[in-house]
Amino acid sequence: MLKKSKAKKSTSNKKLIVANWKMNPTSSKEAKKIFATLKRSKQNFKKSQPIICPPLIYLPELTKSYSGRKFLFGTQDFFPVREGEFTGQISWEMVSEFNPEYVIVGHSEIRDLGETEEMISEKVKYALGHKVTPILCIGEKERYENGSHLKFIEEELREGLSKIKKTDLRKVVIAYEPIWAIGKGHNAVTPYELHQMNIFIKKVLAGIFDRKSAMAVKILYGGSVDDENSVKLINEGEVDGLLVGRASLNPYVFLNILKSLEK
Ligand code: PGA
Repeated sequence: MLKKSKAKKSTSNKKLIVANWKMNPTSSKEAKKIFATLKRSKQNFKKSQPIICPPLIYLPELTKSYSGRKFLFGTQDFFPVREGEFTGQISWEMVSEFNPEYVIVGHSEIRDLGETEEMISEKVKYALGHKVTPILCIGEKERYENGSHLKFIEEELREGLSKIKKTDLRKVVIAYEPIWAIGKGHNAVTPYELHQMNIFIKKVLAGIFDRKSAMAVKILYGGSVDDENSVKLINEGEVDGLLVGRASLNPYVFLNILKSLEK
């Protein structure tokens, strides 16, 4: 327990660089190869904390031979009930044996499959109740000249956080992932747009909870992040980290992102 709280403290000022492997790669052999390349890196990450979120089926294999803290693990989803008649679902109790410390909640690709706001808010609450950090994904489908997408973002925040207490807000990570920027390669937000959104999210959180709690929340950006735009997005967007999809599947590119933040 002590070890865990110490470790959590040490990541508090580091940029969280989350690798969302999504439904990739197609074999455990390839998954092990990606992670082996990451582990081989001699680089010390003083300014960032990489968090690997592989498909659940690879988690036991990847964590079995790894006891370090240089890379932490997370999951891409879970089902917020301990056990029971829920065909095809995996509970937190089942995965916790492999020590993931983060969970992505409400990713747009899961929302697209029909995940409701009710389910998302339940997952955020359940994760916090189990001392796991939820990474709540929010993001608009399109941007509108009249700013109506901001209302959408506000609603997603209100709904996703509707079941948590003010004192727990600082334990949640928010990932701003505009859907139009996801998986497109070179189509990330501009650092300026990101900075504006960062301020907007904090303002909304301050309105729902209070300013102090809002300022303590880590905000990440995701959507077409690569080793060319990562530094600018973090520095000029003033975010606390990145959620990296496609680029995280190439361990050399992912390492480049991590290395560039050390400069
Ligand atoms: P991308 O995906 O980096 O491939 O755009 C990001 C995400 O969906 O988390």
